Amino acid sequence: MNISKWARHLYQPVLPLGKDGRRMTGGEDHIALSRRAAAEGMVLLKNEKNVLPVQKGTRVALFGKAGADYVKGGGGSGDVTVAYIRNLIEGMRIKEQEGKVCLYEPLNRFYEAQVQQQYAKGIVPGLTAEPDLPEDLLKGAGAFAELAIVSICRFSGENWDRTTELDAGRKTSTELSGAEGDLLKRADEVFERGDFYLSAAEEKLIAQVKGVFDKVVVVLNIGAVISSSWFANDPGISSVLMAWQAGMEGGLAEADILCGDVNPCGRLADTFAGRLEDYPFSENFHEAIEYVNYTEDVYVGYRYFETIPGKDSLVCYPFGYGLSYTEFRLTPLDCRISGVDLLKNGSGEYEYEANSGQTAFQRNDAPYMEVLAQVTNIGRFAGKEVVQLYSSAPCGKLGKPARELKAFCKTSLLKPGETTTVRLRVLIAELASFDDLGKICQSAWVLEKGKYTFYLGTSARDTVSLDTALELETDIIVERAHSFCAPAALPERLLSHGTLEPLPIQEDTPSISVWEGLEKAGIFTPDIRARRGEDLLRDRAEDPISLAQVADGSAEFDDFFAQLSLEDKISLLCGQPNTGVANTFGMGNLPEYGVPSVMTADGPAGLRIQPGVGVTTTAFPCATLLACTWDQELVEEIGRAGGMEVKENNIGVWLTPAMNIHRSPLCGRNFEYYSEDPLLAGKMAAALIRGIQSCKVSACAKHFACNNKETNRFESDSCLSQRALREIYLKAFEIAVKEADPWMIMTSYNIINGIRASENKELITGILRCEWGYQGMITTDWWNHASQPAEIRAGNDVKMGCGYPEKVLAAYRAGELTEEEIDNCARRVLHMILRLD
Ligand code: BGC
Repeated sequence: MNISKWARHLYQPVLPLGKDGRRMTGGEDHIALSRRAAAEGMVLLKNEKNVLPVQKGTRVALFGKAGADYVKGGGGSGDVTVAYIRNLIEGMRIKEQEGKVCLYEPLNRFYEAQVQQQYAKGIVPGLTAEPDLPEDLLKGAGAFAELAIVSICRFSGENWDRTTELDAGRKTSTELSGAEGDLLKRADEVFERGDFYLSAAEEKLIAQVKGVFDKVVVVLNIGAVISSSWFANDPGISSVLMAWQAGMEGGLAEADILCGDVNPCGRLADTFAGRLEDYPFSENFHEAIEYVNYTEDVYVGYRYFETIPGKDSLVCYPFGYGLSYTEFRLTPLDCRISGVDLLKNGSGEYEYEANSGQTAFQRNDAPYMEVLAQVTNIGRFAGKEVVQLYSSAPCGKLGKPARELKAFCKTSLLKPGETTTVRLRVLIAELASFDDLGKICQSAWVLEKGKYTFYLGTSARDTVSLDTALELETDIIVERAHSFCAPAALPERLLSHGTLEPLPIQEDTPSISVWEGLEKAGIFTPDIRARRGEDLLRDRAEDPISLAQVADGSAEFDDFFAQLSLEDKISLLCGQPNTGVANTFGMGNLPEYGVPSVMTADGPAGLRIQPGVGVTTTAFPCATLLACTWDQELVEEIGRAGGMEVKENNIGVWLTPAMNIHRSPLCGRNFEYYSEDPLLAGKMAAALIRGIQSCKVSACAKHFACNNKETNRFESDSCLSQRALREIYLKAFEIAVKEADPWMIMTSYNIINGIRASENKELITGILRCEWGYQGMITTDWWNHASQPAEIRAGNDVKMGCGYPEKVLAAYRAGELTEEEIDNCARRVLHMILRLD
């Protein structure tokens, strides 16, 4: 690790937080956790004739440059600076030393040399080209080995989307320059048909290997869904491990699974279909640079494939799916619906009860459905199973997805023959749909009359329908909400039968704001404010109340706040200069009032400190892999570990978790996000937030909301129905807010139905704060294109990386902003800081 000149003088030393004064950051314990989590989230997709795990003593040949070119995670702000990365060749060499396998070394040396040569030219991991495999090496490997393992890897990152041949428009419309432009260009060179598919060189390699070996295993070191048709039905490929981008020791975790030291227990967080066109509206992903029409509405991921007629056959591997080296028997034991009496008054709406002030759905004994099931390991290896509960609602007037995940749980490690009992529960209110066109009741969450069926199983498809169902004789209004963020120009949306429903188009479509304050749009550091020096020996009697006094209870917050000038308060709404090892700037910074300058740093795969500072940290597996663990405790543990690294490096806010929905496989940042399903994404994010905030540092859930595409992300308008917004794109955030209370949320760059996310009062104040009761602080994403006064009016508290204090003051003087609006935001910044250690 090279430290840039004077780094030690420019940055502060850190105080170790580990046992016996040891440093935790990038330490053994965290790296071991990273490796353990990595193996927990890898998904075994295929294993014909039990080719895996590799039998002891097997002679193995490792093909594919990806064996040496390990991609630990994606690029951009989600990248992590690490001391080292372990690839599959290294992992398998350890297994060889342990006497488990024999490797064909000439092949390893060939790939290592090839990859090193390409790295030396500045090519980043994952974008190296697949070299031509010399015939003599193939022959040599064929003569030596019984089993071939072929590795394939992919890389993508922030500010650019994955390439696709369906996407002629993108190349002419994107104005990417600089580093991202080069990455995109490189991806286009390497992947002729886009990186969703194999490149010609990869196809050739697979064909060569299949020509020589009977047993071929494929390992996929990727960050997002790729085509699966080439292996799903090919008898020449026996086994496939979806190994994701698994952090700094991902190659070791891959070897752990291949050799049977860990029994795979990951389950897919996304549906794997054969071709890109199989995903709804992927062909239109880059239809326009200015907008994206979310025409598929709520039918995202498995909701699409399991519901829309004729689409089920396109699925190669369903959501929730994954194999194990053992087998399990899942038996429902008991199933009941409780509290239905509360639903039988027949009126259809549950008035607030006089005594409790609550509706039936808000009471502690709110109606729920619960199932008790037994899981037995009936195979030969110890293993873990993921039990999933789905529901289907009556089609009714709104139309419903045929399956929706409602609860899940992962068992502990069960020995062969061992049985455990799991309990899954769903609140009946969570079966409701959002009625945005008033078919039952305008802007309300409704349960339509009819039959609600529950399914227990191990994927969206491998389920049994439970005997206990909920029958409603009348439509029921669960909660009245508001008509917020209505679409202005989305012409139509998909219905459950596969037809399109025209949507009302607003006559006065809002015009997207252009802020004059951004005449110097670009990337600027925050201003450094001058401060007079002071006499350290003077009498301190008339010193102002400091924030520390509020923190220790010796002063009242309101008295503290009353001392601040308007300029002070505006300054709190603007990003503050970096200090220490951070590179994403800070918040707070009123030294005269004892308000610290709290630094932020990126995630989500680990604490990101930019190279050159000299601090390496732990790279955990990418978020999609974490979602595939379906293990909330494990994810919480990672949150705690990451949170301690953040704290140890004197940073107060970790810009993590990123929790946008996997709408299309093409989004360049999918690796940073969890899933196509909002429940899974929300639960995982909530677990991570709990872990982080237990260290008394702030999490920051991002990007709120509908940032599902990177191309033109500052100016792209996500056009979607209120129903899709509420049920899919906001749901994960709602779960995280209600279950884990993130102290900070980051609004996204994009526009939502004509209004920039950070200026969107209906979104921020209406839904997030008023409907969900969120009390925390809100920041923008860095250097967005929105107006800071409009953001303050909307309730977006801080502008990062830098704010525009003079412009805010001018807006106040012009009567465009009230002091109360400024105060509300400033108070929330201070309250966030008060929560930190
Ligand atoms: C990204 C955010 C990140 C921020 C700070 C932005 O470009 O979208 O996810 O936290 O930069 O680095």
